[in-house]
Amino acid sequence: MAIQAPAARPANPRFSSGPCAKPPVFSLDKLSDAALGRSHRAAVGKDKLKTAIETTREILGVPADYKIGIVPASDTGAMEMAMWSLLGARKATMVAWESFGAGWVTDVVKQLKIDAEVKTADYGEIVDLATVDFDTDVVFTWNGTTSGVRVPNGDAIPATREGLTICDATSAAFAMDLPWDKLDVTTFSWQKVLGGEAAHGMIILSPRAVERLESYTPSWPLPKIFRMTKGGKLIEGIFRGETINTPSMLAVEDYLQALEWAKSVGGLTGLIARADANAKVIWDFCEAHDWIANLAIDPATASTTSVCLKFTDARIKDGAAFAKSVAKRLGDENVALDIGAYRDAPAGLRIWCGGTVETADLEALMPWLEYAFEAEIAAQ
Ligand SMILES: Cc1ncc(COP(=O)(O)O)c(C=O)c1O
Repeated sequence: MAIQAPAARPANPRFSSGPCAKPPVFSLDKLSDAALGRSHRAAVGKDKLKTAIETTREILGVPADYKIGIVPASDTGAMEMAMWSLLGARKATMVAWESFGAGWVTDVVKQLKIDAEVKTADYGEIVDLATVDFDTDVVFTWNGTTSGVRVPNGDAIPATREGLTICDATSAAFAMDLPWDKLDVTTFSWQKVLGGEAAHGMIILSPRAVERLESYTPSWPLPKIFRMTKGGKLIEGIFRGETINTPSMLAVEDYLQALEWAKSVGGLTGLIARADANAKVIWDFCEAHDWIANLAIDPATASTTSVCLKFTDARIKDGAAFAKSVAKRLGDENVALDIGAYRDAPAGLRIWCGGTVETADLEALMPWLEYAFEAEIAAQ
């Protein structure tokens, strides 16, 4: 019997985990006020950059004594800048449970050659932060975008600690509560939860991180785009929007628009609620079907942004080929684009649930997922 395709389709099939869907209200016309063809050092450019920083602070609830900077090379740039500038003063602990965290381990152990304890967990699991020595400098990812596993909360991080915590929060910021008192360096990029454009990274520094920057000079050379100090003092201008090098004013305008949209849906509380409701649609679907499961083993650590799924049906002959075929079928039908699991992750699907995705679109996608699954089982 032919399998019937569902009648309704998601209005927006963009479920990629980065670049992520633009805010639902996005249109190119909204960027017409961009300071194009103007210097980013002119008042108009500097104002926009400063507004981007201060609106980020307002929405994320970043304390007034924390510094926020817009830096080159997206989240990777922000993380590299942090690690190359701050690590080496004391022992480090590298914590990783998926591909991006593993990338930071390589950097620190193989490139910077820092004395580090490496703690890893397999895809679907997490390292228990209670086992980490926070008197070392600790590098970790808040939400593992490629495994769909996140830190449940910051309780395991002591408020008084000797080391710094350096947190890659690129797929968590604007979707999850980040405990600022537990985080000394936090990074993210614009193209994730807010659906902004790539290229620029955000770095947020606690007073303790600034103190380290001003009191410690790494033994290795630092390229200009990593340098946050001059003559042993923080370059304050970076944290007022005087960027190290030239930013895209079009990307800045787009980020400003995304921030305005974020405010319109209730700011951080609204954004978290949107991601939670989105992820729940998929969690409920998994509960109701025995052939699909969340890659995150412990529900307390299940991501509400990058929801990763595995197929568990015994009839599946080749897991990797099957997952690819399901993702391809959904892409060809234009109901879900870019939802194959990350290239290093276990075979399966990854569906973005950050706040720019509409819950109704996920609800419309679920019957298609079932349809594609049944069609591929039949086609094997
Ligand atoms: C957890 C994590 N870290 C780092 C990156 C790299 O981000 P970017 O491409 O913005 O440098 C990503 C991208 O998906 C990510 O998910």
